[in-house]
Amino acid sequence: MRRQVARDLGDTVRAGSPSPSSEELRETEGTVRKRLLWAAAAIGLLLLLGACSPDASQDTLQPKGPYAEKLKDLFIPVFWVAVFVFVVVEGGIIWITIRYRHRKGRDRIPAQTHGNTRLEIGWTIAPALILAGVMVPTIAGIWDLARKPPEDALKVTVEGFQWWWGFEYTDEDMQTEYGDGKPIRTADVLVIPEDRVVYLSLVGAGGDIVKDDPAATDYMVIHSFWIPELAGKQDVVPGRTNHILMQADDPGMYEGQCAEFCGLQHGRMLVRVRALSAEDWDAWVTNQKAPGVTSSDPLARQGMDLFLEPLSEGRGSCIECHTVGDTDATSQAGPELTHFADPTHECFAGCIWETTDREALESWLRDPDAVKMGSKMPDYDLTEEEIDALVAYLYSLK
Ligand code: CUA
Repeated sequence: MRRQVARDLGDTVRAGSPSPSSEELRETEGTVRKRLLWAAAAIGLLLLLGACSPDASQDTLQPKGPYAEKLKDLFIPVFWVAVFVFVVVEGGIIWITIRYRHRKGRDRIPAQTHGNTRLEIGWTIAPALILAGVMVPTIAGIWDLARKPPEDALKVTVEGFQWWWGFEYTDEDMQTEYGDGKPIRTADVLVIPEDRVVYLSLVGAGGDIVKDDPAATDYMVIHSFWIPELAGKQDVVPGRTNHILMQADDPGMYEGQCAEFCGLQHGRMLVRVRALSAEDWDAWVTNQKAPGVTSSDPLARQGMDLFLEPLSEGRGSCIECHTVGDTDATSQAGPELTHFADPTHECFAGCIWETTDREALESWLRDPDAVKMGSKMPDYDLTEEEIDALVAYLYSLK
């Protein structure tokens, strides 16, 4: 009975559409082959390009510390389980497609199957078992990474701004020795000692600003802090504090970036971690505890005056947003500048320029919006003389 229906159905299908001529068929086959070739070429190119960067600096598969190592140790086995599933499922699909394809001269619809209890139970239980297997190391890893930090961990608060990163060292022995003793702060580059656990508290910036000024919705964005070689990715959410642990086994520079779309310059919200040897770390901390040294160079002195006083013609002033330790500049709306020219402060404005790049610094002061569109740094219509003096001042802050 079923056969009869199938045969009738086959006849109807064949009768419904006039069979294409062999020439038309050949043409269609040609088009399909050409498209397949293009697709294969595109996939090949993609693989080739993907392999182009053997020394990529943001590589989770080349961890440089124990916490990043843990993530890799979890990734590798889960990856191979996924490969196994892919090969079995895709292999099965391809095998069945070829084995049971339509062949010339076979003009009836094959016997139709409906339901197979044994198969269905099998493909329900197998994925459940695989997922349960993957779950064991995953949950162990989550617990491991959520552990309390050791007593001697370095504590740093990370703040995400539009569009740069700020760091505050909150340990008692990391306070400045001038003024009332405030936590050491840096921008763009997080400096850490090698071989020591760093406990990061990630807070969304501007919580207070938002409370005071409901219009300041600019600050209500989520960032994501990510240094692939040292730790996992963690969101930075307004009104919340998240934590991650990080450690670098060796001195060196580790690059990262914001990993959550946070507005116009999200793609240029980069960050660096500079890990120092014990000796360099001690020297760095000592220097950070002291105020920046302003040289006696007259141009730098002139720049300092420009920086600390309101600019002429009501153009505003630099200290509305910036801090320079042990001066009247204490606002924390913009990046900390106390040790702007310290060698560890390698980059500025979201780490998109090297600090030593004088030309970039000049264009940044000349018209911030022109070189980083949407930036919160105001354009104060600085004259070239003013820019020269301010650059000299900034470069004197060691
Ligand atoms: Cu901050 Cu994307």
